[in-house]
Amino acid sequence: MAKTENTLPDNLPRHVAIIMDGNGRWALSRGMPRLAGHRAGTENLRSIIRACVEFGISYLTIYAFSTENWGRPPEEVNGLMRILEDVIDHELDELDAEGVQIRHIGRLDNIEPRLQDKVRYAIERTRANDRLVLLVAFNYGGRDEIVQAIKRMIEDGVQPQDVTPELVSRYLYTAGVPDPDLIIRTSGELRISNFLIWQAAYAEWYVTPTYWPDFDKEEFRQALLVYARRDRRFGTVSPQVNQPS
Ligand code: FPP
Repeated sequence: MAKTENTLPDNLPRHVAIIMDGNGRWALSRGMPRLAGHRAGTENLRSIIRACVEFGISYLTIYAFSTENWGRPPEEVNGLMRILEDVIDHELDELDAEGVQIRHIGRLDNIEPRLQDKVRYAIERTRANDRLVLLVAFNYGGRDEIVQAIKRMIEDGVQPQDVTPELVSRYLYTAGVPDPDLIIRTSGELRISNFLIWQAAYAEWYVTPTYWPDFDKEEFRQALLVYARRDRRFGTVSPQVNQPS
């Protein structure tokens, strides 16, 4: 049967992770301040979260603020903190009603205590939801995550012979979450930017020139179709290649 525009593949990724890049350039190209781009990106995020719920994606990780983003001008850093607070204040009821479980990955210790409390409240309130697990990477860095994991392993007295990839995974912020199957990066940049550097080992990538505020549900669906056609070999060979001649 011919695929219609609304078709979804059977083999959807279980875990999609997104580097929501290009908000600044989106705003600049419209003569607007960078924060207007982040606000537009937040609007777009809402529709992509909804699409994940509708499509049956189990895990969505979004890169909202990196450990390197502290180096941006103070008004942009404060603006991004405010956006997180606004999302919790104004979107939590709807996210909760839609069955979204919110998790945070990254460090909470050096953000404002009031915002820390709100993040903890959002996590607690949505803990029992199971339609979509939304991992918010905020004040997150992949190297920092690994450093924290190593410190905790040492504190716990883990012995060298017991260190395995599975054990390391259990010490990361993403403990218990399957590795991302598909990582989407908008705005065309070809780099990992310290995002899920351990977990991305065998992820498939979809990179698009589209700026994040313009990455709509239809392009998301397109990314899922592209993913579904990929031959994931995890370092082995595909079954056809493995056939005896
Ligand atoms: C990268 O674009 C984007 C960010 C650093 C922030 C992403 C944040 C949002 C979309 C808001 C959602 C946030 C929360 C907390 C739910 P850029 O600014 O680097 O764009 P540029 O490369 O064009 O300058």
